[in-house]
Amino acid sequence: MEFYNREKELRDLLNMIKQEPNMITFIYGPINSGKTVLMQHLVENILPKEYVAFYINLRGEEITKEEEFYEILFETYEEKDFSIEKIVDKISRLSFGIPISFGTFKLMFERREKDYRGVFRYIIKTLQKLKEKGLMPIIIFDELQVIKDVKVNEPLIYRLFNLFIRLTKELKLCHVFAITSDSTFIERIYNEAMLQGRSRYYLVDDFDRKTVERVLRSKGFSDEEINLVWYYFGGKPIYLVEAIQTKKVGKDVKELCEEFYEIRYGQLEEIIYKEKRLNERRFEEIIELLKEFRDKNSLKYKEINPTIQFLIEKNILFADPRKKILKPQSHLELIAIRNLLKEMEQ
Ligand SMILES: Nc1ncnc2c1ncn2[C@@H]1O[C@H](COP(=O)(O)OP(=O)(O)OP(=O)(O)O)[C@@H](O)[C@H]1O
Ligand SMILES: [Mg+2]
Repeated sequence: MEFYNREKELRDLLNMIKQEPNMITFIYGPINSGKTVLMQHLVENILPKEYVAFYINLRGEEITKEEEFYEILFETYEEKDFSIEKIVDKISRLSFGIPISFGTFKLMFERREKDYRGVFRYIIKTLQKLKEKGLMPIIIFDELQVIKDVKVNEPLIYRLFNLFIRLTKELKLCHVFAITSDSTFIERIYNEAMLQGRSRYYLVDDFDRKTVERVLRSKGFSDEEINLVWYYFGGKPIYLVEAIQTKKVGKDVKELCEEFYEIRYGQLEEIIYKEKRLNERRFEEIIELLKEFRDKNSLKYKEINPTIQFLIEKNILFADPRKKILKPQSHLELIAIRNLLKEMEQ
């Protein structure tokens, strides 16, 4: 995969990593803005070799119990292969779980030692050992919102936040990154008292116009094609990749743009009209809110009310809790909103 741009983001992230761990970093942004690819690129190609990253991807995992989470959090090794020396040799820059021997893992869970403090102690001890060997650990959780509803006695996520605070601010033991594209989740986290002053928020947004121009021009796009792609897709990396691939095989970029637009318009129409049937009042409120986007690309908001929440959950709008800005998830949504409103007014 060819990786475009992101010089600024990579520089910022590298600067964070070079500091002593201090805060939990939440990486957020609209859907498909390239958060996962960015963090993977950072880990695989940019990180100096004294760093070791544990990348834990919760996407698509169905986690309802604490144990299910630990099965993903840890990577088990055969007893005979397990000593910290062997592990240090084995783990490359990128690993997919905290190393643990099969025996210890079993013991922790099967002997009903489901005492999470034991689990957390084990993590801390292992990271300390890695550090003694000259490695700086980084833990990256992707799609952290997957566990937002898992409860033991208290929500699992609060236990985790306590661990994260311990690992960063208190012990300076490792960097912790949590990625999410769930706006309502990030909004909740952002306003979480427990994390005040202990976390920071880094936005990974779609590319800006200049970047889109630079990338597309280097791929032989004409001015007209660039304008078209920007009009329909804005700087959404996933669509840019589609446009580039389309051009590469000699197909019409305009057709591709219109095809994606048609799909998104149809989906938006479906969502809005369904709401009209189910909840007339909510429908009216949605329309009032969407009207604001007739001549603006983004809005300031004060709080996430149920109407905003609805549009966020349907992936029509994205809320940036730091800037308190609301905007359509991409240009496709923006033009679909505008055209749907026109259609309704006729
Ligand atoms: N910097 C980039 N260079 C090239 N392609 C990119 C880049 N960033 C993203 N992409 C393309 O966009 C796709 C989506 O990116 P990615 O999965 O990282 O987004 P995301 O923000 O993590 O999405 P989600 O909201 O679903 O978590 C990638 O598979 C890739 O094709
Ligand atoms: Mg992702």
